[in-house]
Amino acid sequence: MTLAFFNGEFLPIDSLVIPIDERGHQFGDGVYEVIKVYDGKPFLMREHLVRLENSAKAIRLEMPYTVEQLEELIGEGLTRADLRDAQVYVQITRGIAVRLHAFPDASPSISMTLRPAKSLSEETFNTGVKVTLLEDERWLNCYIKSLNLLANILAKQTASDRGCFEAVLVRDGYVTEGSSTNAYAVKDGVVYTHPANKRILHGITRAAVLQVAAEAGIEVREEAFTPEFLLSADEAFITSTTSEVLAITQVDDTVIGTGRPGPVVNQLHAKFRELIV
Ligand code: PDD
Repeated sequence: MTLAFFNGEFLPIDSLVIPIDERGHQFGDGVYEVIKVYDGKPFLMREHLVRLENSAKAIRLEMPYTVEQLEELIGEGLTRADLRDAQVYVQITRGIAVRLHAFPDASPSISMTLRPAKSLSEETFNTGVKVTLLEDERWLNCYIKSLNLLANILAKQTASDRGCFEAVLVRDGYVTEGSSTNAYAVKDGVVYTHPANKRILHGITRAAVLQVAAEAGIEVREEAFTPEFLLSADEAFITSTTSEVLAITQVDDTVIGTGRPGPVVNQLHAKFRELIV
């Protein structure tokens, strides 16, 4: 079943618990994580929760729980919800206070949802997806997993309007990442991806895939590449907690490589899946 948690209490998912003056609701003043649970085991949970702590620190937000306490809470939630394959969403905000921009004298709020996983079909992994190129209109601290996702939402909707799975974003002439994924191009057996700086989210899946690539002897260059480089790549792919390793087989009107997921993407996805079990 689905389950929610707000400020110390597990609740039915449709409970009306967020006060009007909650700062996540009014300002998007908070940070979040999405964790995938495979067969009862939250995958890379520690890494996600450490990133949550880092995001909170970057916006000067005190964490209401330690990483260890959050791990216990998520475990308890999964047991209560009786979920094996799930998606856990955790959000920390600056709390409940009369609307004023500057930090209030309030305790942070924590909310959580636990739901059955929405996994992509094997068919999607086997065929790959089409993406569209769009200008990256986000702020300059994309390494923070902030609740402020308006630019990401608009990009994803434009992608969807164009019949695409994802928008791949371009800033100052270089591909940064997807609206909710990290992006990669493969040329002559080498994997290229934007360096982990302020312009992208430092994906947990990205880190795992780079590790897997190193172990498989696949060279990775953390170098920004241009849209033209992407269009002429042998292979391309995106990664995220929910999309794992997913081939890009078309960028707007341009077919990538053979138009089918290539050997590097397939190898990386297979090796990534070995980490899950
Ligand atoms: N999105 N880049 C952006 C902008 C993201 O929002 C995400 C994750 C990623 C991939 O990060 P990770 O591998 O840690 O999931 C990259 C999540 C899944 C979301 O917002 O739903």
